[in-house]
Amino acid sequence: MIKFNKFYVTTPIYYVNDVPHIGHAYTTIAADIIARWNRIKGKEVFFLTGLDEHGQKVAEAALKMGLTPQEFVDSLAPRFKEAWKKLNISNDDFIRTTEERHQNVVIEIIKKIYENGDIYRGEYEGLYCVTDERFWTELQLVDGKCPWCGKEVRKLKEETYFFKLSKYQQKLLDFYNQNPDFIVPETRKNEMISRIKEGLKDVSITRTTVEWAIPFPFDKEHYLYVWVDALINYVSALDYPGEKFKKFWPADIELMAKEINWFHSVIWPAMLFSVGIETPKKNFIHGWWTVEGEKMSKSVGNVVDPIEMVNKYGADAFRYYLFREVPFGQDGDFSEKSMINRINSELADALGNLVNRVLVLVEKNFDNSVPKPCGGQNVKKFALNIVKAVDKSIGELQFHNALNDIFFLVNESNKYINKNKPWEIEDKEILGGVLYNLLESLRFISILLYPFMPETANKIRKQLGIEKKFSFDGLKWEVLKPGTKIKREKILFEKINK
Ligand code: MSP
Repeated sequence: MIKFNKFYVTTPIYYVNDVPHIGHAYTTIAADIIARWNRIKGKEVFFLTGLDEHGQKVAEAALKMGLTPQEFVDSLAPRFKEAWKKLNISNDDFIRTTEERHQNVVIEIIKKIYENGDIYRGEYEGLYCVTDERFWTELQLVDGKCPWCGKEVRKLKEETYFFKLSKYQQKLLDFYNQNPDFIVPETRKNEMISRIKEGLKDVSITRTTVEWAIPFPFDKEHYLYVWVDALINYVSALDYPGEKFKKFWPADIELMAKEINWFHSVIWPAMLFSVGIETPKKNFIHGWWTVEGEKMSKSVGNVVDPIEMVNKYGADAFRYYLFREVPFGQDGDFSEKSMINRINSELADALGNLVNRVLVLVEKNFDNSVPKPCGGQNVKKFALNIVKAVDKSIGELQFHNALNDIFFLVNESNKYINKNKPWEIEDKEILGGVLYNLLESLRFISILLYPFMPETANKIRKQLGIEKKFSFDGLKWEVLKPGTKIKREKILFEKINK
Protein backbone atom coordinates (compact mmCIF):
# COMPACT_ATOMS: atom_id res chain seq x y z
CA MET A 1 0.00 0.00 0.00
CA ILE A 2 1.44 3.43 -0.94
CA LYS A 3 0.83 5.92 1.84
CA PHE A 4 1.55 9.01 -0.21
CA ASN A 5 -0.49 11.51 1.68
CA LYS A 6 0.69 11.00 5.23
CA PHE A 7 3.71 12.47 6.96
CA TYR A 8 5.19 11.36 10.27
CA VAL A 9 7.85 13.51 11.94
CA THR A 10 9.44 12.92 15.35
CA THR A 11 11.80 14.58 17.81
CA PRO A 12 13.88 12.67 20.35
CA ILE A 13 12.04 12.23 23.61
CA TYR A 14 13.92 14.46 26.02
CA TYR A 15 15.30 13.37 29.37
CA VAL A 16 13.18 14.85 32.02
CA ASN A 17 15.97 15.38 34.52
CA ASP A 18 15.78 19.13 34.13
CA VAL A 19 13.73 21.92 32.52
CA PRO A 20 13.74 22.41 28.71
CA HIS A 21 16.55 24.44 27.16
CA ILE A 22 17.39 25.93 23.78
CA GLY A 23 18.71 22.60 22.43
CA HIS A 24 15.41 20.84 23.06
CA ALA A 25 13.54 23.83 21.65
CA TYR A 26 15.67 23.78 18.50
CA THR A 27 14.82 20.22 17.46
CA THR A 28 11.19 20.68 18.42
CA ILE A 29 10.82 23.88 16.37
CA ALA A 30 12.48 22.15 13.41
CA ALA A 31 9.90 19.38 13.62
CA ASP A 32 7.17 22.01 13.88
CA ILE A 33 8.40 23.74 10.71
CA ILE A 34 8.34 20.43 8.86
CA ALA A 35 4.91 19.53 10.24
CA ARG A 36 3.34 22.89 9.37
CA TRP A 37 4.81 22.89 5.86
CA ASN A 38 3.53 19.40 5.13
CA ARG A 39 0.10 20.28 6.49
CA ILE A 40 -0.26 23.27 4.19
CA LYS A 41 0.84 21.00 1.37
CA GLY A 42 -2.25 18.93 2.09
CA LYS A 43 -0.61 16.00 3.87
CA GLU A 44 -2.08 14.33 6.90
CA VAL A 45 0.66 14.95 9.43
CA PHE A 46 1.47 13.23 12.69
CA PHE A 47 4.04 15.15 14.72
CA LEU A 48 5.33 13.45 17.83
CA THR A 49 7.44 14.70 20.69
CA GLY A 50 7.61 13.67 24.32
CA LEU A 51 9.69 12.69 27.32
CA ASP A 52 12.12 9.95 28.25
CA GLU A 53 11.27 9.39 31.88
CA HIS A 54 13.07 6.23 32.98
CA GLY A 55 16.65 5.48 33.92
CA GLN A 56 19.22 6.16 36.55
CA LYS A 57 19.74 9.79 35.61
CA VAL A 58 16.11 10.63 36.29
CA ALA A 59 16.02 8.48 39.44
CA GLU A 60 19.07 10.23 40.85
CA ALA A 61 17.73 13.69 40.04
CA ALA A 62 14.48 12.77 41.80
CA LEU A 63 16.33 11.54 44.85
CA LYS A 64 18.18 14.84 45.10
CA MET A 65 14.86 16.66 45.18
CA GLY A 66 13.46 14.30 47.79
CA LEU A 67 10.77 13.07 45.41
CA THR A 68 9.85 9.68 44.01
CA PRO A 69 10.86 9.37 40.35
CA GLN A 70 7.21 9.46 39.30
CA GLU A 71 6.51 12.59 41.36
CA PHE A 72 9.63 14.15 39.91
CA VAL A 73 8.76 13.48 36.26
CA ASP A 74 5.16 14.54 36.87
CA SER A 75 6.42 17.85 38.19
CA LEU A 76 8.66 18.50 35.18
CA ALA A 77 6.49 17.27 32.30
CA PRO A 78 4.23 20.38 32.46
CA ARG A 79 7.32 22.59 32.04
CA PHE A 80 8.02 20.98 28.67
CA LYS A 81 4.37 21.22 27.64
CA GLU A 82 4.30 24.88 28.64
CA ALA A 83 7.47 25.64 26.68
CA TRP A 84 6.06 24.00 23.55
CA LYS A 85 2.82 25.91 23.91
CA LYS A 86 4.68 29.19 24.23
CA LEU A 87 6.71 28.37 21.13
CA ASN A 88 3.55 27.50 19.18
CA ILE A 89 4.57 23.91 18.67
CA SER A 90 1.80 22.05 16.86
CA ASN A 91 2.58 18.51 18.01
CA ASP A 92 -0.19 15.95 17.61
CA ASP A 93 0.88 13.85 20.57
CA PHE A 94 3.15 14.03 23.59
CA ILE A 95 4.40 10.64 24.67
CA ARG A 96 5.76 9.95 28.14
CA THR A 97 7.54 6.65 28.65
CA THR A 98 5.90 6.12 32.04
CA GLU A 99 2.51 5.91 30.34
CA GLU A 100 0.87 2.51 30.20
CA ARG A 101 0.26 2.72 26.46
CA HIS A 102 4.02 2.98 25.95
CA GLN A 103 5.02 0.28 28.40
CA ASN A 104 2.61 -2.23 26.86
CA VAL A 105 4.12 -1.78 23.40
CA VAL A 106 7.66 -2.00 24.79
CA ILE A 107 6.87 -5.37 26.34
CA GLU A 108 5.26 -6.56 23.12
CA ILE A 109 8.28 -5.58 21.02
CA ILE A 110 10.81 -7.05 23.45
CA LYS A 111 8.85 -10.32 23.45
CA LYS A 112 9.03 -10.44 19.67
CA ILE A 113 12.77 -9.80 19.64
CA TYR A 114 13.20 -12.52 22.28
CA GLU A 115 11.04 -15.00 20.41
CA ASN A 116 13.12 -14.36 17.29
CA GLY A 117 16.16 -15.53 19.20
CA ASP A 118 17.87 -12.13 19.29
CA ILE A 119 18.12 -11.80 23.08
CA TYR A 120 20.39 -13.98 25.25
CA ARG A 121 21.72 -13.97 28.79
CA GLY A 122 25.32 -13.14 29.59
CA GLU A 123 27.59 -11.06 31.75
CA TYR A 124 28.71 -7.53 31.17
CA GLU A 125 31.65 -5.73 32.59
CA GLY A 126 32.32 -2.14 31.70
CA LEU A 127 32.76 1.45 32.64
CA TYR A 128 29.41 3.10 33.03
CA CYS A 129 28.51 6.79 32.95
CA VAL A 130 25.36 7.49 34.93
CA THR A 131 24.82 10.91 33.37
CA ASP A 132 24.85 9.64 29.81
CA GLU A 133 23.36 6.24 30.64
CA ARG A 134 25.95 4.29 28.70
CA PHE A 135 29.04 2.15 28.90
CA TRP A 136 32.46 3.21 27.63
CA THR A 137 35.60 1.27 26.88
CA GLU A 138 38.86 2.21 28.59
CA LEU A 139 40.15 3.60 25.28
CA GLN A 140 37.22 5.94 24.83
CA LEU A 141 37.67 7.69 28.17
CA VAL A 142 39.22 11.14 28.26
CA ASP A 143 41.54 11.56 31.27
CA GLY A 144 39.84 8.54 32.77
CA LYS A 145 36.46 10.26 32.63
CA CYS A 146 33.34 10.15 30.44
CA PRO A 147 34.18 11.68 27.03
CA TRP A 148 30.72 13.27 26.80
CA CYS A 149 30.09 14.88 30.16
CA GLY A 150 33.53 14.68 31.77
CA LYS A 151 32.19 13.01 34.91
CA GLU A 152 33.53 9.94 36.72
CA VAL A 153 32.61 6.55 35.30
CA ARG A 154 31.83 3.52 37.45
CA LYS A 155 33.10 0.01 36.95
CA LEU A 156 30.09 -2.20 36.64
CA LYS A 157 29.95 -5.95 36.32
CA GLU A 158 26.58 -7.45 36.04
CA GLU A 159 24.53 -10.22 34.66
CA THR A 160 22.65 -8.90 31.71
CA TYR A 161 20.65 -9.81 28.65
CA PHE A 162 22.17 -8.94 25.32
CA PHE A 163 20.57 -7.96 22.04
CA LYS A 164 22.34 -9.60 19.07
CA LEU A 165 23.32 -6.42 17.33
CA SER A 166 26.36 -8.12 15.75
CA LYS A 167 24.02 -10.30 13.70
CA TYR A 168 22.83 -7.21 11.81
CA GLN A 169 26.21 -5.77 10.84
CA GLN A 170 26.07 -6.63 7.15
CA LYS A 171 22.35 -6.05 6.93
CA LEU A 172 22.80 -2.50 8.23
CA LEU A 173 25.55 -1.74 5.72
CA ASP A 174 23.44 -3.16 2.88
CA PHE A 175 20.48 -1.16 4.12
CA TYR A 176 22.47 2.10 4.05
CA ASN A 177 23.60 1.25 0.54
CA GLN A 178 20.09 0.66 -0.67
CA ASN A 179 18.77 3.74 1.16
CA PRO A 180 21.45 6.36 0.68
CA ASP A 181 19.25 9.07 2.22
CA PHE A 182 18.52 7.19 5.43
CA ILE A 183 21.13 9.19 7.36
CA VAL A 184 21.54 12.85 6.41
CA PRO A 185 23.93 14.72 6.24
CA GLU A 186 26.38 12.42 4.48
CA THR A 187 29.17 13.00 7.04
CA ARG A 188 26.95 11.57 9.76
CA LYS A 189 26.29 8.51 7.62
CA ASN A 190 30.00 7.98 7.06
CA GLU A 191 30.64 8.13 10.80
CA MET A 192 28.15 5.31 11.33
CA ILE A 193 29.57 3.23 8.50
CA SER A 194 33.11 3.40 9.82
CA ARG A 195 32.00 2.52 13.33
CA ILE A 196 29.98 -0.44 12.07
CA LYS A 197 32.94 -1.62 10.03
CA GLU A 198 35.07 -1.67 13.18
CA GLY A 199 32.79 -4.53 14.20
CA LEU A 200 29.43 -4.50 15.96
CA LYS A 201 29.24 -5.88 19.47
CA ASP A 202 26.04 -7.15 21.02
CA VAL A 203 24.43 -4.61 23.32
CA SER A 204 23.45 -5.09 26.90
CA ILE A 205 19.77 -4.26 27.18
CA THR A 206 18.93 -5.03 30.80
CA ARG A 207 20.15 -3.90 34.20
CA THR A 208 19.64 -5.41 37.62
CA THR A 209 20.68 -2.22 39.40
CA VAL A 210 18.39 0.36 37.81
CA GLU A 211 14.85 -0.26 38.97
CA TRP A 212 13.32 2.95 37.65
CA ALA A 213 12.68 1.22 34.35
CA ILE A 214 10.31 -1.14 32.57
CA PRO A 215 10.62 -4.68 33.95
CA PHE A 216 12.20 -7.17 31.56
CA PRO A 217 9.38 -9.63 30.83
CA PHE A 218 11.53 -12.80 30.97
CA ASP A 219 13.41 -12.35 34.23
CA LYS A 220 12.04 -10.45 37.19
CA GLU A 221 15.49 -9.50 38.46
CA HIS A 222 16.07 -7.45 35.31
CA TYR A 223 14.92 -4.08 34.04
CA LEU A 224 15.16 -2.70 30.52
CA TYR A 225 17.97 -0.36 29.56
CA VAL A 226 16.47 3.10 29.15
CA TRP A 227 17.53 3.48 25.50
CA VAL A 228 15.73 0.33 24.36
CA ASP A 229 12.59 1.53 26.11
CA ALA A 230 12.98 5.06 24.70
CA LEU A 231 13.45 4.19 21.02
CA ILE A 232 10.21 2.25 21.00
CA ASN A 233 8.27 5.49 21.69
CA TYR A 234 8.17 6.17 17.95
CA VAL A 235 5.87 3.21 17.45
CA SER A 236 4.17 3.05 20.85
CA ALA A 237 2.74 6.54 20.26
CA LEU A 238 1.10 5.11 17.13
CA ASP A 239 -0.48 2.30 19.20
CA TYR A 240 1.58 -0.36 17.46
CA PRO A 241 0.37 -2.56 15.75
CA GLY A 242 -3.00 -0.78 15.46
CA GLU A 243 -4.64 1.42 12.87
CA LYS A 244 -2.66 4.56 13.62
CA PHE A 245 0.56 2.62 13.21
CA LYS A 246 -0.62 1.19 9.89
CA LYS A 247 -1.51 4.66 8.73
CA PHE A 248 1.56 6.66 9.75
CA TRP A 249 4.50 4.27 10.05
CA PRO A 250 7.25 4.42 8.82
CA ALA A 251 8.40 7.77 10.18
CA ASP A 252 9.22 10.09 7.30
CA ILE A 253 11.75 12.03 9.34
CA GLU A 254 13.30 11.40 12.74
CA LEU A 255 15.17 14.47 13.95
CA MET A 256 17.99 14.58 16.46
CA ALA A 257 21.46 15.97 17.16
CA LYS A 258 24.62 14.06 16.42
CA GLU A 259 25.26 12.51 19.85
CA ILE A 260 22.32 10.12 19.52
CA ASN A 261 22.75 9.21 15.86
CA TRP A 262 24.20 5.81 16.81
CA PHE A 263 21.12 4.80 18.76
CA HIS A 264 18.77 5.90 15.98
CA SER A 265 20.72 4.79 12.94
CA VAL A 266 22.23 1.54 14.18
CA ILE A 267 20.46 0.11 17.22
CA TRP A 268 16.93 1.19 16.31
CA PRO A 269 16.94 -0.18 12.73
CA ALA A 270 18.50 -3.43 14.00
CA MET A 271 15.69 -3.78 16.56
CA LEU A 272 13.18 -3.14 13.81
CA PHE A 273 14.85 -5.72 11.52
CA SER A 274 14.51 -8.23 14.32
CA VAL A 275 10.79 -7.59 14.85
CA GLY A 276 10.11 -7.27 11.13
CA ILE A 277 8.93 -3.67 11.23
CA GLU A 278 9.80 -1.30 8.41
CA THR A 279 12.57 1.20 9.18
CA PRO A 280 12.09 5.00 9.26
CA LYS A 281 12.72 6.73 5.95
CA LYS A 282 15.18 9.33 7.15
CA ASN A 283 17.21 10.32 10.18
CA PHE A 284 18.23 13.94 9.95
CA ILE A 285 21.12 14.76 12.26
CA HIS A 286 21.59 18.39 13.18
CA GLY A 287 24.38 20.17 15.02
CA TRP A 288 24.83 21.54 18.53
CA TRP A 289 24.28 25.01 19.88
CA THR A 290 26.85 26.58 22.10
CA VAL A 291 26.15 29.84 23.93
CA GLU A 292 28.42 32.82 23.36
CA GLY A 293 31.17 30.39 22.35
CA GLU A 294 30.80 28.04 25.31
CA LYS A 295 29.21 24.67 25.85
CA MET A 296 25.92 25.11 27.66
CA SER A 297 26.03 23.92 31.24
CA LYS A 298 24.33 24.54 34.52
CA SER A 299 27.61 25.11 36.30
CA VAL A 300 28.68 27.83 33.84
CA GLY A 301 25.18 29.25 34.25
CA ASN A 302 24.71 29.90 30.53
CA VAL A 303 21.75 27.62 29.83
CA VAL A 304 19.31 29.43 27.54
CA ASP A 305 15.73 29.10 28.72
CA PRO A 306 13.37 29.15 25.71
CA ILE A 307 10.47 30.42 27.83
CA GLU A 308 12.52 33.42 28.89
CA MET A 309 13.43 34.09 25.24
CA VAL A 310 9.78 34.01 24.22
CA ASN A 311 8.83 36.35 27.04
CA LYS A 312 11.56 38.75 26.04
CA TYR A 313 11.46 38.66 22.25
CA GLY A 314 8.33 36.74 21.22
CA ALA A 315 8.08 33.19 19.89
CA ASP A 316 8.46 34.11 16.23
CA ALA A 317 11.60 36.21 16.63
CA PHE A 318 13.26 33.36 18.55
CA ARG A 319 12.13 30.74 16.03
CA TYR A 320 13.31 32.92 13.17
CA TYR A 321 16.72 33.58 14.65
CA LEU A 322 17.48 29.92 15.35
CA PHE A 323 16.80 28.86 11.77
CA ARG A 324 18.15 31.90 9.95
CA GLU A 325 21.40 32.06 11.84
CA VAL A 326 22.78 28.56 11.28
CA PRO A 327 22.43 26.07 8.41
CA PHE A 328 20.48 23.10 9.75
CA GLY A 329 22.97 20.28 10.20
CA GLN A 330 25.84 22.49 11.36
CA ASP A 331 26.82 23.63 14.83
CA GLY A 332 25.85 27.12 15.88
CA ASP A 333 26.57 29.70 18.51
CA PHE A 334 23.73 31.49 20.24
CA SER A 335 24.13 35.12 21.09
CA GLU A 336 21.39 37.48 22.21
CA LYS A 337 23.21 40.34 20.55
CA SER A 338 23.10 38.75 17.14
CA MET A 339 19.44 37.82 17.68
CA ILE A 340 18.66 41.47 18.46
CA ASN A 341 20.51 42.56 15.31
CA ARG A 342 18.41 40.26 13.20
CA ILE A 343 15.18 41.34 14.89
CA ASN A 344 15.97 45.00 14.27
CA SER A 345 17.21 44.81 10.71
CA GLU A 346 15.35 41.86 9.22
CA LEU A 347 12.11 41.62 11.17
CA ALA A 348 11.44 45.26 12.13
CA ASP A 349 13.12 47.20 9.30
CA ALA A 350 12.63 44.88 6.34
CA LEU A 351 9.51 42.79 7.00
CA GLY A 352 7.55 44.88 9.48
CA ASN A 353 8.16 48.03 7.54
CA LEU A 354 7.16 46.46 4.23
CA VAL A 355 3.82 45.30 5.59
CA ASN A 356 3.13 48.65 7.17
CA ARG A 357 4.15 50.71 4.12
CA VAL A 358 2.01 48.73 1.71
CA LEU A 359 -1.06 48.78 3.93
CA VAL A 360 -0.75 52.51 4.61
CA LEU A 361 -0.62 53.16 0.86
CA VAL A 362 -3.72 51.06 0.23
CA GLU A 363 -5.46 52.73 3.15
CA LYS A 364 -4.70 56.22 1.84
CA ASN A 365 -5.32 55.70 -1.85
CA PHE A 366 -7.98 52.99 -2.03
CA ASP A 367 -9.97 53.44 1.14
CA ASN A 368 -8.77 50.11 2.64
CA SER A 369 -9.83 48.08 -0.41
CA VAL A 370 -7.60 45.81 -2.47
CA PRO A 371 -7.18 47.55 -5.86
CA LYS A 372 -7.39 45.86 -9.28
CA PRO A 373 -4.34 44.14 -10.79
CA CYS A 374 -2.74 45.85 -13.75
CA GLY A 375 0.18 43.79 -15.09
CA GLY A 376 3.60 43.46 -13.55
CA GLN A 377 4.71 40.09 -14.85
CA ASN A 378 8.19 40.46 -13.37
CA VAL A 379 6.98 40.52 -9.79
CA LYS A 380 4.79 37.53 -10.50
CA LYS A 381 7.60 35.51 -12.07
CA PHE A 382 9.89 36.39 -9.25
CA ALA A 383 7.41 35.36 -6.54
CA LEU A 384 6.62 32.07 -8.26
CA ASN A 385 10.31 31.23 -8.56
CA ILE A 386 10.77 31.86 -4.86
CA VAL A 387 7.97 29.40 -4.13
CA LYS A 388 9.79 26.65 -6.02
CA ALA A 389 13.06 27.43 -4.28
CA VAL A 390 11.49 27.49 -0.80
CA ASP A 391 9.64 24.25 -1.44
CA LYS A 392 12.87 22.55 -2.46
CA SER A 393 14.83 23.96 0.48
CA ILE A 394 12.26 22.94 3.09
CA GLY A 395 12.01 19.51 1.46
CA GLU A 396 15.77 19.16 1.97
CA LEU A 397 15.55 20.69 5.48
CA GLN A 398 17.75 23.57 4.36
CA PHE A 399 15.76 26.03 6.42
CA HIS A 400 18.27 28.88 6.29
CA ASN A 401 18.11 28.81 2.48
CA ALA A 402 14.33 28.92 2.58
CA LEU A 403 14.41 31.93 4.92
CA ASN A 404 17.03 33.60 2.77
CA ASP A 405 14.77 33.25 -0.25
CA ILE A 406 11.71 34.52 1.58
CA PHE A 407 13.64 37.54 2.78
CA PHE A 408 14.92 38.09 -0.72
CA LEU A 409 11.28 38.52 -1.71
CA VAL A 410 10.79 40.90 1.23
CA ASN A 411 13.78 42.97 0.17
CA GLU A 412 12.82 42.95 -3.50
CA SER A 413 9.34 44.12 -2.55
CA ASN A 414 10.81 47.01 -0.57
CA LYS A 415 12.97 47.87 -3.58
CA TYR A 416 9.92 47.66 -5.84
CA ILE A 417 8.25 50.35 -3.72
CA ASN A 418 11.34 52.56 -3.78
CA LYS A 419 11.71 52.15 -7.53
CA ASN A 420 8.08 52.75 -8.43
CA LYS A 421 7.50 55.53 -5.88
CA PRO A 422 3.74 54.97 -5.50
CA TRP A 423 3.41 58.37 -3.79
CA GLU A 424 4.33 60.00 -7.12
CA ILE A 425 2.02 57.96 -9.36
CA GLU A 426 -0.99 59.97 -10.48
CA ASP A 427 -2.74 57.38 -12.64
CA LYS A 428 -5.00 55.48 -10.24
CA GLU A 429 -5.04 52.35 -12.36
CA ILE A 430 -1.25 52.12 -12.49
CA LEU A 431 -0.98 52.94 -8.80
CA GLY A 432 -3.55 50.22 -8.06
CA GLY A 433 -1.54 47.74 -10.13
CA VAL A 434 1.67 48.46 -8.24
CA LEU A 435 -0.06 48.11 -4.87
CA TYR A 436 -1.86 44.97 -5.99
CA ASN A 437 1.47 43.35 -6.81
CA LEU A 438 2.78 44.32 -3.39
CA LEU A 439 -0.28 42.91 -1.64
CA GLU A 440 0.10 39.65 -3.56
CA SER A 441 3.75 39.60 -2.60
CA LEU A 442 2.76 40.02 1.07
CA ARG A 443 0.28 37.19 0.72
CA PHE A 444 3.02 34.93 -0.69
CA ILE A 445 5.37 35.98 2.12
CA SER A 446 2.74 35.15 4.73
CA ILE A 447 2.19 31.62 3.38
CA LEU A 448 5.89 30.91 2.99
CA LEU A 449 6.71 32.27 6.43
CA TYR A 450 3.91 30.36 8.12
CA PRO A 451 5.93 27.24 9.07
CA PHE A 452 8.69 29.38 10.57
CA MET A 453 6.69 32.21 12.11
CA PRO A 454 3.08 31.15 12.48
CA GLU A 455 1.96 34.13 14.61
CA THR A 456 3.42 36.69 12.23
CA ALA A 457 2.07 34.89 9.19
CA ASN A 458 -1.41 34.92 10.70
CA LYS A 459 -1.14 38.61 11.53
CA ILE A 460 -0.23 39.42 7.91
CA ARG A 461 -3.02 37.19 6.56
CA LYS A 462 -5.62 38.88 8.77
CA GLN A 463 -4.44 42.35 7.82
CA LEU A 464 -4.86 41.39 4.17
CA GLY A 465 -8.48 40.57 4.98
CA ILE A 466 -8.09 36.87 4.16
CA GLU A 467 -10.28 34.53 6.16
CA LYS A 468 -9.10 31.27 4.62
CA LYS A 469 -6.32 29.30 6.31
CA PHE A 470 -2.93 28.86 4.69
CA SER A 471 -2.49 26.45 1.83
CA PHE A 472 0.29 25.74 -0.61
CA ASP A 473 -2.30 25.85 -3.40
CA GLY A 474 -2.82 29.51 -2.54
CA LEU A 475 0.64 30.24 -3.92
CA LYS A 476 -0.74 31.26 -7.30
CA TRP A 477 -0.69 34.80 -8.59
CA GLU A 478 -3.78 37.04 -8.54
CA VAL A 479 -5.69 35.12 -5.90
CA LEU A 480 -6.36 38.18 -3.72
CA LYS A 481 -9.78 39.54 -4.70
CA PRO A 482 -9.99 43.23 -5.61
CA GLY A 483 -12.38 44.95 -3.22
CA THR A 484 -11.31 42.83 -0.22
CA LYS A 485 -11.08 45.04 2.87
CA ILE A 486 -7.65 45.24 4.44
CA LYS A 487 -7.28 45.95 8.18
CA ARG A 488 -3.99 47.53 9.10
CA GLU A 489 -2.89 46.87 12.63
CA LYS A 490 0.07 47.88 14.73
CA ILE A 491 3.54 47.20 13.34
CA LEU A 492 4.69 43.58 13.49
CA PHE A 493 8.00 44.07 15.28
CA GLU A 494 9.21 46.81 17.57
CA LYS A 495 12.89 47.62 17.35
CA ILE A 496 14.85 46.54 20.39
CA ASN A 497 17.13 48.98 22.09
CA LYS A 498 20.56 47.42 22.29
N1 MSP B 1 16.39 10.81 25.96
C1 MSP B 1 17.36 10.81 24.92
C2 MSP B 1 16.70 10.67 23.57
C3 MSP B 1 15.86 9.44 23.38
S1 MSP B 1 15.08 9.43 21.84
C4 MSP B 1 14.48 7.90 21.68
C5 MSP B 1 18.13 12.12 24.96
N2 MSP B 1 17.55 13.15 25.57
S2 MSP B 1 18.16 14.62 25.70
O1 MSP B 1 17.29 15.35 26.58
O2 MSP B 1 19.53 14.57 26.04
O3 MSP B 1 17.97 15.26 24.29
C6 MSP B 1 18.94 15.17 23.30
C7 MSP B 1 18.46 15.94 22.10
O4 MSP B 1 18.08 17.27 22.47
C8 MSP B 1 19.51 16.13 21.03
O5 MSP B 1 19.66 15.01 20.20
C9 MSP B 1 18.94 17.33 20.32
O6 MSP B 1 17.84 16.96 19.57
C10 MSP B 1 18.51 18.18 21.48
N3 MSP B 1 19.61 18.96 22.04
C11 MSP B 1 20.02 18.94 23.33
N4 MSP B 1 21.06 19.83 23.48
C12 MSP B 1 21.34 20.41 22.29
C13 MSP B 1 22.19 21.45 21.88
N5 MSP B 1 23.06 22.04 22.68
N6 MSP B 1 22.10 21.86 20.59
C14 MSP B 1 21.21 21.32 19.71
N7 MSP B 1 20.37 20.35 20.09
C15 MSP B 1 20.53 19.74 21.31
O7 MSP B 1 19.21 12.15 24.39
